[in-house]
Amino acid sequence: MNIQPVFFLKEIQGFSEPTLQFCQALSRRLPLLILADSDSMGGKVNLENVVYKSYDDILKGLKELCLSNDWVLLFSNRDIALGVENFVRIPLPFWTAIDAVNQHSFTNHAKKKLIYNKLSSLYMDSIGNDTDKETHFLEECFKKAEAKTILDCCCGVGRHDYLLGQDGYTVTGIDFSASQIATAKRIHQHANVQYLVDDVRSFDLAKKDYDGAMCMWTTYNYFSKDQDFLAFMRNIWRHLKKGGILVLDSKNIPALNKVRFYSRTSQHDDLTLNLLIYKRILGNIQNSQYFYFLNQNGKKNFYLDEEFIRFYYLQELITLMGQGGKFELISAFGDFDGNPYSEKQSERMITVWQAAKEG
Ligand SMILES: C[S@@+](CC[C@H](N)C(=O)[O-])C[C@H]1O[C@@H](n2cnc3c(N)ncnc32)[C@H](O)[C@@H]1O
Repeated sequence: MNIQPVFFLKEIQGFSEPTLQFCQALSRRLPLLILADSDSMGGKVNLENVVYKSYDDILKGLKELCLSNDWVLLFSNRDIALGVENFVRIPLPFWTAIDAVNQHSFTNHAKKKLIYNKLSSLYMDSIGNDTDKETHFLEECFKKAEAKTILDCCCGVGRHDYLLGQDGYTVTGIDFSASQIATAKRIHQHANVQYLVDDVRSFDLAKKDYDGAMCMWTTYNYFSKDQDFLAFMRNIWRHLKKGGILVLDSKNIPALNKVRFYSRTSQHDDLTLNLLIYKRILGNIQNSQYFYFLNQNGKKNFYLDEEFIRFYYLQELITLMGQGGKFELISAFGDFDGNPYSEKQSERMITVWQAAKEG
């Protein structure tokens, strides 16, 4: 499967610093073509390997590229339509300015993410996780605390819940996306598992004595505002028995490269998914772009999805989790092998908390 990315420059000013950064990251993955319109460019642009052509020749060249590639991805502010399904045009900039989203909680952004809604059936194809290993890790934590009834906060499509259910745990999975819950019920149904559509900041169940809870895969990080995080934390505390435990899992920001670009392919039945993922970290915020290239029964579809998350440092978590004397940190791990957490080196920051006996 080959994807040909093309940048089309109409004007010299067209390339901002973040666009250049994206171009550089992309060119390490795929052979990049940068075309400039020789008719309208007012001079030479300060970029290597720019091909100057007339607009008519550019259009002709793009059509030829569409014949010889599975996909042509054109980054251009000029509205170009070729009328072929393997041609995608993306206007620049294609990311939302952090200043614009930062005024709201990132939760609102997560609510609209395609992979949690329209593309939910692709969720399992889109992640590169080792669910068995993660579940084994969770079970070790739950065993130590003798926890058998579990709340999965932001359960997604229930990939852990199903395995926990098989191993004899009684699980309630909660997610505010009706699509994710519908997918969970379709692919991860188990007699010991119940799935509910609700917001983890405000759900209210009759049962208030769960033994354990979890929030997996860099998800509490959608609570970019302290008040959202605190509502989430207090609500879990309300549903746990005193002394119950909570596992919070996230990537570990200090050890991450500030710009990452990777790809993922998955294939089954009549579906091939190619996914390009671009991530950049600015301060404690990560903005990710997901380019989905789908081929199902010979029909091609393209989607662009975006995500914002806030990373928490361990000390910040300890302060927030301890508010009102609700939770105490009992362990911090750096991966699902159970190695201790190291701020500079760990791949993940997996923290285990105990609900205070009083509070
Ligand atoms: C990265 S996925 C993780 C899903 C699952 N924990 C896993 O490990 O596969 C994040 C999930 O959190 C859900 N979510 C985000 N904010 C939520 C909220 N406030 N209440 C309930 N679900 C939420 C999304 O709908 C999405 O399914």
